Amino acid sequence: MRSTVLTLLTVTLSYFVALSLGVILLRDDAGLTTLSDNSPETWPAPNATGGNAWTAAFSRAQALVAQMTLEEKVNLITGHDGRCTGNTGAVERLGIPVLCLNDGPAGVGRVLGVSQFPAGQTVAATWDRDLIYQRGHAMGQEFYDQGVNIALSPVTGGPLGRSPRGGRNFEGFFDDAYGTGEAAYATIKGMQDAGVLTTAKHFIGYEQETSRNPYAPSDAIDPTDVQVPISSNIDNKALHELYLWGFAEAVRAGTGYVMCSYNEVNGTHACANAYTQNNILKDELNFQGGIMSDWGGVWSDAETINGGLDISMPGVALLGYFGLMWGDGLVSSIESGLVSESRVDDAVRHSPLTPWISSGQADNPPPAVTYNVNPIFVAEDAHWRDVRKIETMALIRQIGEDSATLLKNVDGALPLHAPKVLAIIGADAGANELGALGGQGTNEYPTWNINGTLTLGGGSGWVIPPTIVTPYEAINYRARRMNSQVYAVFNDTAYDVIAQTVTNSMADVAIVFVSAFTEESVDRATLYLDRDGEALIETVAAGCNNTIVVIHAGAPVLSGDAIANVLFGDVSPSGKLPYTIGHSLDEYPPNTISDDPFGYGLSYSTVYEADNSTIQKTNEPFEVTAQVTNTGTSLHRKPLSWYPWIWLRGFDKLRALSPGETRTATFALRRKDFSLWSTERQLWYVPEGDIQLQVGASSTKLYLTSSWSS
Ligand code: BGC
Repeated sequence: MRSTVLTLLTVTLSYFVALSLGVILLRDDAGLTTLSDNSPETWPAPNATGGNAWTAAFSRAQALVAQMTLEEKVNLITGHDGRCTGNTGAVERLGIPVLCLNDGPAGVGRVLGVSQFPAGQTVAATWDRDLIYQRGHAMGQEFYDQGVNIALSPVTGGPLGRSPRGGRNFEGFFDDAYGTGEAAYATIKGMQDAGVLTTAKHFIGYEQETSRNPYAPSDAIDPTDVQVPISSNIDNKALHELYLWGFAEAVRAGTGYVMCSYNEVNGTHACANAYTQNNILKDELNFQGGIMSDWGGVWSDAETINGGLDISMPGVALLGYFGLMWGDGLVSSIESGLVSESRVDDAVRHSPLTPWISSGQADNPPPAVTYNVNPIFVAEDAHWRDVRKIETMALIRQIGEDSATLLKNVDGALPLHAPKVLAIIGADAGANELGALGGQGTNEYPTWNINGTLTLGGGSGWVIPPTIVTPYEAINYRARRMNSQVYAVFNDTAYDVIAQTVTNSMADVAIVFVSAFTEESVDRATLYLDRDGEALIETVAAGCNNTIVVIHAGAPVLSGDAIANVLFGDVSPSGKLPYTIGHSLDEYPPNTISDDPFGYGLSYSTVYEADNSTIQKTNEPFEVTAQVTNTGTSLHRKPLSWYPWIWLRGFDKLRALSPGETRTATFALRRKDFSLWSTERQLWYVPEGDIQLQVGASSTKLYLTSSWSS
C-alpha cells in the first residue's frame, strides 16, 4: 500500500466548534454575577463633552446645534435615501452636507474601481501590527477617495468569533479579545489617519446570524418568521474581559462611530440598551463619538434615543423596509415629552457634528460621491472612478503571503522544487465561471461566487474584486518556466476523471484546492468543506502520495500569486491561526470560546529555540523579552505570543530571521493586561500573587515561563 502524505496549507478558515441556537450564556467563571446585576432599569445618557481629544471640535459642534431648529436636528440624526449605504440629513444653511456612510470591513463595498482587501481574519493571521495598520490606511484612503465620510468598518469584537459556525467571523480579526483589540486599534488608526471616519461594530455580543432579525434570507437556518433578535445574556465579567475589549481599544484609537448590533443584550435590544450604551460605552469608556444603529436594529423611537443611540440608520430610507425609524416619529416623541430636546442636542453633538469636525472633513471634505450603491435611489449620473493605488496590490499580496498558515508539512513536502508533473485539482483553483459581476455582483450576496477560487465571504462585507489571480494561473505560470507538466481538473465531483488524471499523469505532486464559503445572515450548518471537499481530498490523496491541500475558507488569501510564492518557497509561511481548530466537535464545550490550539502555524525553517526571557518591572508599560534563534536554514518569520494562564497578552513578529541569527522579541504590557474585572467592586483589579508568563510559538508551544508578582 502506498503511504499518503498530506500537507496542509490553510488560507484562513473559521472552523470547528459548536453553536448554541438559544440564549447565549457566557462564562461566569468566578460565579460572582447574576444577570440582574448587569442591566439595571435606568442609565441616563451622559452628555457629550468632547473629551480631551475633541474639545475644539465639540465647541464648534455646540455652537452649530445652538442655531438649529428641532426639525433640523432630527433630520441630521435620521438616515435618508441617497447614493451610499447610509446617508445623513443635511443642514445646508449652516454648511452641513449629507454625509456618505458605506460598507464595509474589507474595502469599499458595491463599487467598482476599488481594491478587495484581505478580510480581517486574514490580516489577523499575519500577527503583524504594521501590516494591519498599512491595510487600514490603504483601505481608508480608498474610502475617502470614493467620497465616503464614514466607513462601516471595522468589526471589533462583534462577532468575536465565539462559534466557528458564525457566518460573519471572517469580517472580524482574532477569536481572542486581546488580539482583536490590537487589530482594532491599528486598523482604526490607519483608516482615520487616511481621513475617513470609522465605525467599530457590532456592539455587543453579536455572535450569531441565526435569529438575528426578521430580515433573514431564505437560506438561513431558521425560517424568516421566527427570526426575532436573540438575546446574548452576558455577565459583566465576560462583557469586560472578552466582548468589550476590542471596543475599548477602538475608542482608545479614536473611532468616530460605534454601531450597535441586531441582538438583544440581557433581554434589551442592543440599540436601546441603556446599560451597554450609556453606562458602559459613553460613561465607562468615555466614548464621545456617535452610536449608530445597524440597519434594522431600531425597534422604537423613544427607547433607542433614551437608551443612548445617536443616529438611526437607515432611518426613514429604503421605503421603510426596516421601518420608518426616527424622523417625524421622533419629533412627535419629543413633543409628547417622551424624549427631551436636550437628549436630541446631545445626540447631534455625538453624531454627526463632533466626529465630522474633529476628523477634518468639515474643512477638507472628501471628493463628491459619483456612484450609487442604493438600489432604491437611482442616480442618473452615477458612475465609478478608479481610486486604487499601484502599491496597494503589493500590500495585498504581502498580506496574502504572510497570512498563509502551514499546518502540516510531512517529510518537507513543501516548498516545491521543480516538480516534473503537477496535478492541480479543485474548482477553488480556477476562475469563477460566472465572474464577479452581474446579478447581485455589485450588491452584497455573491452566492454564485463559490464555485471558483474563493476570495472573500459574502454579505454586506463583500467587496467587488477588480482583478483575481487564480491559484491555477499563478502556479501554471511558474510551472511553464520550470518546464513542468500541469494537469488540472476544476470539477470537484468528477471523481473518476480526477482519479485518472492524478494516476495516469503519475503526478509527483498533487495540489488539491478546497474551500468553505461563509456569509452574513447565514450561520454554517456544518463545519464540513463545500462541495464534499473531504471526498475530493481523499480521491486525490488515493492517487498521489505527495498531496498538498490548500484550504480557502471564510477569509481567504485572495491572490493566487501569494499562494504560489509560498508553495514554491519564495517566502516561508509565517501565518498563525487567529482562531482555534479542534480535532472534533466533542473537544469543545458547547457554550464557550475555546482556546486550543490557537496561534498554531509552521514555517519552512526548523523550530527555533527561545532560551531566556526577562521582565522589566519599572514604569508601565512593563516589558517582557525573549530571545529567539533561527536554528534552521530558511529565513524565519514567526509571531510570538505569551499567555498569563489562558490569556493572550502580547505578540511580536520577527521578520526575516536569517539562519543562525538570534533576535530579541519585546512585549510591552500595560496594567490593564494583568487585570481582571471584579463584578463585586465593578472595577479592574490586578489579582494578588504570582502570575505566570509564558512565551512561545502558539498556545500549545509555550517555551518560557517566568513569573510576575503583583
Ligand atoms: C450589517 C452591517 C452593515 C449594514 C449596512 C447590516 O445588515 O449587519 O454590518 O454595515 O447592514 O449594509
